[in-house]
Amino acid sequence: DSQWTDAAPLDEVPTDDVIGVKVDGRDIALYNVEGEIYATDNICTHGHARLCEGFLEGHEIECPLHQGRFDVRNGAPMCAPLTEAIRSYPVKIEAGRVFLSLA
Ligand code: FES
Repeated sequence: DSQWTDAAPLDEVPTDDVIGVKVDGRDIALYNVEGEIYATDNICTHGHARLCEGFLEGHEIECPLHQGRFDVRNGAPMCAPLTEAIRSYPVKIEAGRVFLSLA
């Protein structure tokens, strides 16, 4: 199915942590929450900070610049100063790799 784009090997996303990857020229953050993988854009909607340099706690990623938090499951902004959701992407795992639907 050509809608899915290979983003990374599953074992490169550490449990309860976040990494940044380039997928089709986009800066994407991949999260592993208790073995479940989620993906969002990596650049905060508030300023130019990379969420992969932030702090993942449960399902929330804290931006390293002003400590805004997004829910990594749907990109929803959880607290000030964030007002805009961050884009999140459908994920599937196949053959030990993480695939994203970027369309
Ligand atoms: Fe992310 Fe300000 S840049 S909260």
